[in-house]
Amino acid sequence: MACACMRHLSAIRTPTVASAGPPKETANSRVLILGGTGRVGGSTAIALSKLSPDLRITIAGRNREKGASMVTTLGKNAEFAEFDINDDKSLESALNDVDLVVHAAGPFQQTEDCRVLEAAIRAKTAYLDVCDDTYYALRAKAYNNEAIASKVPAITTGGIYPGVSNLMAAELVRVAKSENKGEPERLRFYYYTAGTGGAGPTILATSFLLLGEEVIAFNKGEKLKLRPYSGMMSIDFGKGIGKKDVYLLNLPEVTSTHETLGIPSVSARFGTSPFFWNWAMDAMTRFVPSELLRDRSKVEEMVKLFDPVVRVIDGYAGERVSLRVDLECSDGKHTIGVFSHKKLSVSVGTSIAAFALAVLEGSTQPGVWFPEEPQGIAIEARELLLQRASQGTINFVMHKAPWMVETNPKEVGLGIYV
Ligand SMILES: NC(=O)c1ccc[n+]([C@@H]2O[C@H](COP(=O)([O-])OP(=O)(O)OC[C@H]3O[C@@H](n4cnc5c(N)ncnc54)[C@H](OP(=O)(O)O)[C@@H]3O)[C@@H](O)[C@H]2O)c1
Repeated sequence: MACACMRHLSAIRTPTVASAGPPKETANSRVLILGGTGRVGGSTAIALSKLSPDLRITIAGRNREKGASMVTTLGKNAEFAEFDINDDKSLESALNDVDLVVHAAGPFQQTEDCRVLEAAIRAKTAYLDVCDDTYYALRAKAYNNEAIASKVPAITTGGIYPGVSNLMAAELVRVAKSENKGEPERLRFYYYTAGTGGAGPTILATSFLLLGEEVIAFNKGEKLKLRPYSGMMSIDFGKGIGKKDVYLLNLPEVTSTHETLGIPSVSARFGTSPFFWNWAMDAMTRFVPSELLRDRSKVEEMVKLFDPVVRVIDGYAGERVSLRVDLECSDGKHTIGVFSHKKLSVSVGTSIAAFALAVLEGSTQPGVWFPEEPQGIAIEARELLLQRASQGTINFVMHKAPWMVETNPKEVGLGIYV
């Protein structure tokens, strides 16, 4: 979706840390999607084959039937590889045959290692994961020097949120600095997804596991640890979404943007609908012991129990998704970006595919990077990435004052909207 914000992005250029050079030809590149039989990986495969029909895509998973069905959907340039990502030999041989691996076989919470990234570095294969866990992302980042030494470009947290939201934050900060709007002081990530957003059972496990984690947030440089699903705020996501209640959650973009963009105050909140899911999530943090919520096998049993009910309610809830990123600067300027789509299950794939193409095109330097780092996605490649990711959105705006986006703009003074 072309929009005014894209013109804004291209109008203001600052010197880049990483110069991407002209994009590399990607037509015959080979991409391996771990978790390609799942909702997020499958959606990524479909989006990639639409954005770049000549790409050769291998989807991997443990279920042959699901694999065959996805290959039928994707057509002649696709194939299926049946293996468990915990089987190092199969993983390595699959990685040797491809230019990029996309890791969407979550959950990433409560995982002990980064075996896919390690294997990608050994095989010298570019890497992208859709991780949404703070500790996993920080562990992945610790492989930076190894990836540089092996000349492997790698991105962690390259999905929709985190992922597109990190890039939106990076652009708000870059433009605010270039326009001398004072020092960026506070960054807030707000997310809304109706029901599960049409994602797979893993997303339910992810949500439960996140409820077992204390929330990391930053206030004026001080690291805070807060109760999950506390700190409710009512946020206006604008056109097509409206006002939604959102709650604190422990998400990796808080720590990464605090550190890489140097913003003193950062937090992330999430909300869902129908409203009683928010109450249920809050109740879980109060009444279910956090040790149980951090236990992957127990959580998987809970998911089996809840999944059928959740799916029925999903049928009524729809799967709208919205990201709103707010930046406040020292001179009182407040700018925001909003990205809304009718279907998370589609938009997540389009967003990940946009990251995958950027990596294949050479926009990522060797090393392990967060999306907001210029070595991760070169500044001059951000515009194209956001353009691709925002295909099909019902609203995508950047660098606006909140009142310009909210559904009930405040009238002030002599009846003039400001
Ligand atoms: N960053 C973001 O924006 C974002 C947004 C949404 C979701 N996510 C993350 O994306 C991940 C996937 O979510 P989803 O909704 O797609 O879940 P899903 O539908 O349950 O899919 C999970 C996939 O992973 C595969 N898998 C799991 N364990 C595996 C193993 N040991 N070996 C091989 N394949 C394995 C599954 O295949 P088989 O079971 O058939 O083997 C399946 O294809 C989650 O971790 C979620 O948190 C990130």
